Amino acid sequence: MSFGAAARILIPSMKTFELEPIEKAPREELRRLQLERLQWSLKHAYDNVAQFRKKFDVAGVKPSDCRTLEDLRRFPFTTKADLRETYPFGMFAVPMDRIVRIHASSGTTGKPTVVGYSARDIDTWSHLMARSIRAAGARPGDKVHVAYGYGLFTGGLGAHYGAERLGLPVIPLGGGMTERQVQLIADFKPAIIMVTPSYMLAIADEMERQGFDPKKSSLRIGIFGAEPWTNEMRVSIERRIGLNAIDLYGLSEVMGPGVAQECAETKDGLTIWEDHFYPEIIDPETGAPVADGERGELVFTSLTKEALPVIRYRTRDLTRLLPPTARTMRRMEKITGRSDDMLIIRGVNLFPSQIEEFILKTPGLSPHYVLEVTKQGPMDHLAVIVEGTKEGAASLAHHIKSYVGISAEVRTGNVERSIGKAKRVIDKRPK
Ligand code: DLL
Repeated sequence: MSFGAAARILIPSMKTFELEPIEKAPREELRRLQLERLQWSLKHAYDNVAQFRKKFDVAGVKPSDCRTLEDLRRFPFTTKADLRETYPFGMFAVPMDRIVRIHASSGTTGKPTVVGYSARDIDTWSHLMARSIRAAGARPGDKVHVAYGYGLFTGGLGAHYGAERLGLPVIPLGGGMTERQVQLIADFKPAIIMVTPSYMLAIADEMERQGFDPKKSSLRIGIFGAEPWTNEMRVSIERRIGLNAIDLYGLSEVMGPGVAQECAETKDGLTIWEDHFYPEIIDPETGAPVADGERGELVFTSLTKEALPVIRYRTRDLTRLLPPTARTMRRMEKITGRSDDMLIIRGVNLFPSQIEEFILKTPGLSPHYVLEVTKQGPMDHLAVIVEGTKEGAASLAHHIKSYVGISAEVRTGNVERSIGKAKRVIDKRPK
């Protein structure tokens, strides 16, 4: 088996904190590299995965039909359903004796999505996570507190390998045991924390409960991701904890964390590591590609992955592509929703992030919330459960009515803290 272009990837030394040449390469050079890698990836997927071969054949395309980057749009999409159909290992493109790691994402229904990595894939992933942590503003000697979960979830180990690759001391706590998280932040004095934004809030609450002012902690940078979080949430966390809150994006099927990362110098959306992942935005209804700058569903094609190549993988995440700034690679706007998360309440489309924006703008409310949807007779009923004052709740209900156009019941009450990804929606409507 030949691994063509991928076998020639050079992993530069990450000892220095300087940018790699490819991060500032001219667009034409990047596009040349992308095409060469794309051609390899299509062939690798077609030659080694029956599911891809079947789908390409049905669509009447062969890897050799891809002569330009634009030709990619002739190839069929991959979805979670492909991974489910071939559960657990049917999409692996290398034999099991070349797999060194397996992760899985739980998913809300049915079987988990299983992903595999070759030794080279782990190397690429570590490299891209190191690049991400550096882009977030890490400096030599910064201790990194990892509070993403370790285990089948890609967050903990992804962050861990990246920080280690960068030569930083890693403190591998994982999620949970919030009191201990606070104690070790106080004692070990990490500069960087990697955690979901919702769990960061729970840690900040616990700091305050222990009489420890979050602003006085050693934390300088928070690398937050794995769930949607708004710019309002960013401002609120930065004010409260006194750190620089930077966005990190990724998904297991495409690799894990480190597919795209916000750069500390611009903080203007996430730079996509385009030398390894080719992004497209499509209209989620029709599947037709849309132009850069237009909103739609994010789709990724892996360019160098060996064990689990993905061709035009539909992420369900909604965003748009933006021109390069801090690097020469394109950016994506902060994701504020997934097409799966969109609620339709009495015919009105609503994302939890819209409610989050209102909550953070309303005095007297804390950023802990959950949306509960039920049926009252034939009508959808939306309840927002949020922590805070009665006045805050009344003001929030008023905002939702005037800006979204639906009546919502806003109740104050305790909201359970997540130790990983927050669950924002409880949909109790009969399916
Ligand atoms: O959540 C990987 C990850 C770990 C990313 C740690 C960042 C930090 P999955 O469990 O497969 O992988 O979930 C992927 O989470 O499709 C998005 O819907 C959501 N997501 C991830 N990062 C962000 C982000 C990891 N920065 C799914 N903003 C993705 C918004 C995000 N949503």
